[in-house]
Amino acid sequence: MKSFFVFLLAAASVAWAAYWMEDIPRHGIAPFNPDKEYPIFRNVKQWGAKGDGVTDDTAAINAAISHGNRCGGAGCVGSTTTPAILYFPPGTYLITTPIVGFYYTQLIGDPTKMPVIKAAPNFPTEAIALLDADPYMNSGKLNFQATNVFYRQVRNLGFDTRAVRGKATGIHWPSSQSTLIQNCAFHLSSDPEDTHVGIFMEEGSGGMMADLVFYGGKYGAQFGNQQYTMRNLTFYGSDTAINQIWNWGWTYKSLKIVNSRVGINMSSPDVGSVTLLDSSFVNVSTALVTGRVPGNNSGLGSLVIQNVLYTNVPTVLAGADGKPLLLGDPSGTVHDEGYARGNVYAPHGPSLLEGREFAFSQPATLKLGDRYYERSKPQYEEYPSSAFMSARDHYAAGDGQTDDTHALNALFQAVAGSSYIAYLDAGYYKVSDTIFIPPNTRVVGEGLAAVIMGAGEKFSDQSKPRPVVQVGKPGDVGFVEMSDFIVSTQGATAGAVMIEYNLNTPAGENTCSPGEPPSGLWDVHIRVGGYTGSNLQVAECPITPQQHNYVNPSCVAGYMGMHITPSARNVYMENNWVWVADHDIDDWNSTRINVFVPRGMLVEGSRIWLVGSSVEHYTLYQYQLVNASDVWMGQIQTETPYYQPNPPAPHPFTQLNAAIRDPDFAADCQHYAAPSGLMKAGTSAPCAMAWGLRILDSTNVVVFGAGLYSFFNNYDTSCSTVEAGENCQARIFWVGDGGGNAADSNKMSVELYNLNTVGSVSMITQDQLDMATWDQNKATFASTLAVFLSDGVAKELGA
Ligand SMILES: *[C@@H]1O[C@H](CO)[C@@H](O)[C@H](O)[C@H]1NC(C)=O
Ligand SMILES: *[C@@H]1O[C@H](CO)[C@@H](O)[C@H](O)[C@H]1NC(C)=O
Ligand SMILES: *[C@@H]1O[C@H](CO)[C@@H](O)[C@H](O)[C@H]1NC(C)=O
Ligand SMILES: *[C@@H]1O[C@H](CO)[C@@H](O)[C@H](O)[C@H]1NC(C)=O
Ligand SMILES: *[C@@H]1O[C@H](CO)[C@@H](O)[C@H](O)[C@H]1NC(C)=O
Ligand SMILES: *[C@@H]1O[C@H](CO)[C@@H](O)[C@H](O)[C@H]1NC(C)=O
Repeated sequence: MKSFFVFLLAAASVAWAAYWMEDIPRHGIAPFNPDKEYPIFRNVKQWGAKGDGVTDDTAAINAAISHGNRCGGAGCVGSTTTPAILYFPPGTYLITTPIVGFYYTQLIGDPTKMPVIKAAPNFPTEAIALLDADPYMNSGKLNFQATNVFYRQVRNLGFDTRAVRGKATGIHWPSSQSTLIQNCAFHLSSDPEDTHVGIFMEEGSGGMMADLVFYGGKYGAQFGNQQYTMRNLTFYGSDTAINQIWNWGWTYKSLKIVNSRVGINMSSPDVGSVTLLDSSFVNVSTALVTGRVPGNNSGLGSLVIQNVLYTNVPTVLAGADGKPLLLGDPSGTVHDEGYARGNVYAPHGPSLLEGREFAFSQPATLKLGDRYYERSKPQYEEYPSSAFMSARDHYAAGDGQTDDTHALNALFQAVAGSSYIAYLDAGYYKVSDTIFIPPNTRVVGEGLAAVIMGAGEKFSDQSKPRPVVQVGKPGDVGFVEMSDFIVSTQGATAGAVMIEYNLNTPAGENTCSPGEPPSGLWDVHIRVGGYTGSNLQVAECPITPQQHNYVNPSCVAGYMGMHITPSARNVYMENNWVWVADHDIDDWNSTRINVFVPRGMLVEGSRIWLVGSSVEHYTLYQYQLVNASDVWMGQIQTETPYYQPNPPAPHPFTQLNAAIRDPDFAADCQHYAAPSGLMKAGTSAPCAMAWGLRILDSTNVVVFGAGLYSFFNNYDTSCSTVEAGENCQARIFWVGDGGGNAADSNKMSVELYNLNTVGSVSMITQDQLDMATWDQNKATFASTLAVFLSDGVAKELGA
């Protein structure tokens, strides 16, 4: 009887063995691809890969990737019409030359039995990596310009280089926004004769990585990029776990580094800043190496550490010359509550800090136990494919033409509160009215190629803003999990709010509770214009730098990117890119375009985590927080629209909305005519420019890493240089009540660690007063300051 039962269970587990992605019916389409048979999903075994650890699977895998006239090599630098998912069933896939990544490709393995990509012993040591996501061309340039590498993921794969003697690397990953490496393992040789590296990244504007494990290697990883957010990376026995090649800003959370000679080597003079939180080092000779010389008060190599444990670590921090700057305990544990090296504004400054026991306020409301809350994207490995309710099975066409409003609304109503997960097959779901996502709904998109696209009259009136996707109604209680899809618009849609989020999710009150997680949005992106089907491409919305203050009304394509309303509470967002296109992805020259949307992300709710988040090219502001509380932001990144100040903000949006505290540029810039004394004589910088980050009347706002960039004036980059005085705009980051009332900012609490700016004369403006200038903090191409405490926090912490 007993054995019979075991047999039955075993049979059942065989029947259920396939991960849902392997056997879910595939109806995904790429409607704007001229080839109507174009396949999105490619199971590498169906393409002839054996995965038996013996057969050379290189050709089969590369054929599966390149099939269908996709974008890779031969001059193609971007494409939204050729998305693909490469799926790897369990197995060991032996390769003899690199797997070559094409544009808009997701490589996903079965997370229940992680497949491994293994280099054969004869894998060429001169090859850049096992997976080359962006190959170098004969010209010496990367195939896809690194800062335009979007919409890519690698998940649930092992990379094994151990059979190779000499040089070998797992993944070559120059990458930018909306890219992700999640849940991968790297098995590397630790032989001192070998130079093995898990991930090599030398360029880009990223990005997110999470849940990675590195075993061995000369370097677990070599990272260079403008900015990145990395969470839950574990290194066992790498000689140097992380070699930080260069950066402007970087946020590492929940690192664990075990049995290494060096933890993070950030001694390069091209490193702007590192923010390290909630991490541990065990048996590491030197946890951190800095290039910053004691007493140096530039912005270079700013370092902020919070809640890190060092066990059997003789040296916590050493200089590039090897001299210990901070000792640990070779046979015990040291806990760092807080440490900072860099320039401090509390709120006045700069003062140079090189010390431990720096007081952070650490709002407990944002933590689970002693760490800031974090939650990985669910991959639903415990569900069979029958648990997914397909949009196309539920009468949605997803063809970019049919009005799918009714079908999608019916799908989400059917799924809400059930054990089903809504599945958005790849496609463009054109909708003429709001799609409502009720409480207690789970939604997952296929391969980042499912797009909900608002179009038509109901979205066209900027005096009547209307959400394309609305998550809960104000006052609704419940949860959502949403991942891997895009919200967008088509054509002139001046009234569209891409996502309005209202939901209140019950979660522990004073601190997070493991049984009651916040809601989550992972890899849910907003894309306005710049893709085939948007009607907002080079032909429709060319740039007009020669014309004075010209705006084509047909290129006004939204009211707001994302609105997290006052009723929203407890939402965790990870790797979200809220983008108004600055160029046309489908144009082979990546030609720039002018698309106009006034507001980026407006946050009015409470208990919000924005992990690896980016908002770009909105006219009035990128991020604005109004009466928000308990907000965690960790590596946020913004760009000012390239056309400004032609026209200057708020043009063309002159109907300002006081109810949502739109900035009043006329009033703010009038005060600015009498600068606070920090602005250098002879430096003129336009003031009526989009804010990168604007925080009004908010409490418990903690920002761990921010990159606020202004590269252009009317498409000319000469302003973002030292010679010009970084004068693309006068100011970029505002804290206050909007009326210059100091009493109000006293009630606010804002802490910002490692602020990096480009092209802004002032780095911080509090209550109309410019508190910090770029030249006090010059670091890399960016200026960097380590700590800013708003008036209220500075008083509370006694800083
Ligand atoms: C960290 O990543 C590992 C490897 O993917 C995973 O097993 C673990 O659950 C992750 N931890 C957290 C807290 O997400
Ligand atoms: C840190 O990196 C630099 C540059 O690669 C290298 O020269 C130096 O030896 C490294 N330091 C340590 C302690 O490994
Ligand atoms: C650290 O080193 C000690 C002594 O060599 C060893 O006993 C212990 O297992 C190591 N810790 C880890 C996590 O590997
Ligand atoms: C700080 O260090 C950098 C890099 O070594 C150097 O260029 C700069 O002159 C130093 N600045 C000061 C004020 O010491
Ligand atoms: C790209 O730019 C080059 C040089 O300006 C031009 O010759 C070519 O026609 C352009 N290609 C496309 C596809 O626009
Ligand atoms: C600000 O938010 C609090 C709740 O956090 C609320 O009680 C208060 O009314 C809000 N104030 C304004 C001016 O909206």
